Amino acid sequence: MVKAVVLGAAGGIGQPLALLLKSSPLIDELGLYDIVNTPGVAADLSHIATPAKVEGYLPPDDGLAKTLKGADIVVIPAGVPRKPGMTRDDLFKINAGIVRDLATGIATAVPKAFVLVISNPVNSTVPIVAEVFKKHGVFDPKRLFGVTTLDVVRASTFVAEKLGDLSLSSKVVVPVVGGHSGVTIVPLLSQSSHPLPASISEDDYKTLVHRVQFGGDEVVKAKDGAGSATLSMAYAGAEFSFKVLRALKGEKGIVAPSYVSLEADSAGAALLTKELGQELAYFSSNVELGQEGVVKINPLGKITEAEQKLIAAALPELAKNIATGVGFGTEAR
Ligand code: NAD
Ligand code: LMR
Repeated sequence: MVKAVVLGAAGGIGQPLALLLKSSPLIDELGLYDIVNTPGVAADLSHIATPAKVEGYLPPDDGLAKTLKGADIVVIPAGVPRKPGMTRDDLFKINAGIVRDLATGIATAVPKAFVLVISNPVNSTVPIVAEVFKKHGVFDPKRLFGVTTLDVVRASTFVAEKLGDLSLSSKVVVPVVGGHSGVTIVPLLSQSSHPLPASISEDDYKTLVHRVQFGGDEVVKAKDGAGSATLSMAYAGAEFSFKVLRALKGEKGIVAPSYVSLEADSAGAALLTKELGQELAYFSSNVELGQEGVVKINPLGKITEAEQKLIAAALPELAKNIATGVGFGTEAR
């Protein structure tokens, strides 16, 4: 029996994510928690003719603990989204506290669950969860994931567009490494399963990289004050959740980029640190998944000079974001 939980389940991401999870045969029970509307969302989803049993709770009467009870995987899209003119870091003030409190609930109720963090700024919220778990003496770095899958999904789509064949988009695989905001998002286009034309101009390459790095801004601008990516994020969040669940059920060889603590695999971390030329506590790289979570953090491998420059630009920003999250999380301790 597998139980999945969504925290922030009544939101723009939470609702379509819950729908996709309810549609999956991988899940037997679905718990939904939010500060509003979860009983309604749960009642609605419970009429769908798939096996997963759905329950929704609000904060009163220990709603968080009730929702989390028995969870194997907890996905967190709770928190505020951006409006035009804001950076993801501008969300820290509000979302840091939300994520800290939810992490406290998870550490208390289901410390062994896999935790998948969507709430922004991911570069900082993932370290907050880790610090809360450390405070409770239950931190297992193999079980904590920052969800960067939307960057991977965007890279696949934009590369397929560039190749002039959108039917390729579900087949194109591009590792996207680093973190999840602006210059910390580094698409390794040279490792694309479907190579770009060798004749691509430098300008076109730069435009493509920029579009992957700032794809979120495109959506924020188009939504014009009504929030950020929700539907594509729900798709990406479900895709990553399904990979984690397939690995949990024993499938081998599943690899996906995710923003993880480098404590999850010390040998992998050593190789990655050598490639990066500096130590970082968190980084998104291709990660091999298994029944206990992270099995292996893969190194970047062969990258181009242009990609090396992108990595160099990402590192200081990433280090700053990590320090902000660790600082907040440590205070919370
Ligand atoms: P939203 O406002 O539509 O939904 C957020 C939900 O969280 C709301 O239903 C709200 O009631 C709930 N919430 C707030 N405080 C809560 C708490 N303490 N406990 C439980 N639920 C709580 O926002 P959204 O568009 O769904 O975005 C959610 C978050 O996801 C934002 O921080 C956004 O920046 C982030 N996001 C991340 C990615 C990514 O790639 N990782 C992509 C898109 C959005
Ligand atoms: C995204 O990449 O779409 C999300 O992180 C939301 C945002 O703020 O851009």
